[in-house]
Amino acid sequence: SVTRHYTFNIQLQTVTRLCHTKSMVTVNGKFPGPRIVAREGDRVLIKVVNHVQNNMSIHWHGIRQLQTGWADGPAYITQCPIQTGQSYLYNFTIVGQRGTLFWHAHISWQRATVYGPLIILPKRNASYPFAKPYKEVPVIFGEWFNADPEAIINQALQTGGGPNVSDAYTINGLPGPLYNCSAKDTFKLKVKPGKTYLLRLINAALNDELFFSIANHTLTIVEADAIYVKPFETNTLLITPGQTTNVLLKAKPYFPGATFLMTARPYVTGLGTFDNSTVAGILEYESPLLHSALPIKKLPLFKPTLPPLNDTSFATNFSRKLRSLASAQYPANVPQKVDKRFFFTVSLGTRPCDKNQTCQGPNGTKFSASVNNVSFVLPNTALLQAHFFGQSFGVYNSDFPFNPINWYNYTGNSPNNTMVGNGTKVLVLPFNTRVELVMQDTSILGAESHPLHLHGFNFFVVGQGFGNYDPNEDPKSFNLVDPIERNTVGVPSGGWIAIRFLADNPGVWFMHCHLEVHTSWGLKMAWLVLDGKLPNQKLLPPPSDLPKC
Ligand code: C2O
Repeated sequence: SVTRHYTFNIQLQTVTRLCHTKSMVTVNGKFPGPRIVAREGDRVLIKVVNHVQNNMSIHWHGIRQLQTGWADGPAYITQCPIQTGQSYLYNFTIVGQRGTLFWHAHISWQRATVYGPLIILPKRNASYPFAKPYKEVPVIFGEWFNADPEAIINQALQTGGGPNVSDAYTINGLPGPLYNCSAKDTFKLKVKPGKTYLLRLINAALNDELFFSIANHTLTIVEADAIYVKPFETNTLLITPGQTTNVLLKAKPYFPGATFLMTARPYVTGLGTFDNSTVAGILEYESPLLHSALPIKKLPLFKPTLPPLNDTSFATNFSRKLRSLASAQYPANVPQKVDKRFFFTVSLGTRPCDKNQTCQGPNGTKFSASVNNVSFVLPNTALLQAHFFGQSFGVYNSDFPFNPINWYNYTGNSPNNTMVGNGTKVLVLPFNTRVELVMQDTSILGAESHPLHLHGFNFFVVGQGFGNYDPNEDPKSFNLVDPIERNTVGVPSGGWIAIRFLADNPGVWFMHCHLEVHTSWGLKMAWLVLDGKLPNQKLLPPPSDLPKC
């Protein structure tokens, strides 16, 4: 293993899309940002230098950060932001992980423009559990806002209303030909007939789960969230913000010069997700006639069919097909026993408007989101620092509720808005606790799917269902053999999900909905995992350049 060095200069760059030009925050002037490539076992050092007026902080989404929570990146959780003119060296080692992940800004809505692929190759001499692809191609979904996304969310939070939707979805920063004034900004993938390509799909969009498909082609799913899965074929896949999926695409043996559209469009379940139509890229077959004098007869452009916007049965069937590879080499270490069971409601609702405020939420209220009736408020200093130096007083409380208020009565219309409180509360776990967490989707505004992301761990999705979780019946059908292992999972609209994880990573770990608007409204919380007894079970001391608030 080696050490990889990167420098991320946070700087403004002028970018034009949809005939709209704006100056935006980027890494090294690139949109999307640069690729990080490393191998399993490598140490990665990224020096982030902030040259812009906005504060910055970067998260390496899905990296376990064993003992190195200081490098995790969520602002006010593991570090104070990197202020203008300052820099911070992120320093972590990739242990026991290989596959596709991504990195993104983790402060306010900066990740709208500050994100990029994080690719972990297998160790040297290790191979994929599938045939080696001819080429590997990152395909990163995002959103384009004509306006400044920071201004959009600030406005929404001040008025208590919903933010403006983005103006387009993008593939590798490009909206593609189905939007006005965008045909020249189209992602193109040229393929050779008969060859196999590994597409590294990343959903970096702020607020939308996406369906994705390539016309007339089958995709073989081989990995999710940097974990190998039992391969299966599909025409369409679903990917939520925060998720990554590797697929094999086998180019057909003929079709010289033919072009096929690949498209992505939202899966819409409620208020916080928006449809802003369809991003398209082009898959184009190389033509053997390219150098001959003969004119190439252009075949028509083929278009894929995506499921209807609200196709929950597609979403459910697709997520049920995902299983860990669970082989001898890549076992699924599912906790078979549980030390602590938790039941959380994840909820989107409204709250009464504050005095002196005019709220633009439904009926003059303001939007609010919560976990177990707590709408999380970021502190003014970093939780991890406060914890490490024993200075939690006035920063956070360790009384995050184990269950929602009225948890026997969460059906349908609860928790109701008057019972939601603000708070900066953490849930404390002794080292190596085997945790089972059931998350129940509930909302007074209509049920909605929430892609929940956990920092610092992978978890196993042992069960899922619709309606209310039944603690007596549902565990009987849990999969403890080959459940999918991942870092982000959609809590189904109007249903529940059960996950298990081993709390073997000391530190403070954020958990939140990866729909940025829901995070902004408070759908977030933090776990505090205590040190274990052995030296390799303790959080390391902070680096000397850790930013100050
Ligand atoms: Cu990708 Cu806390 O986020």
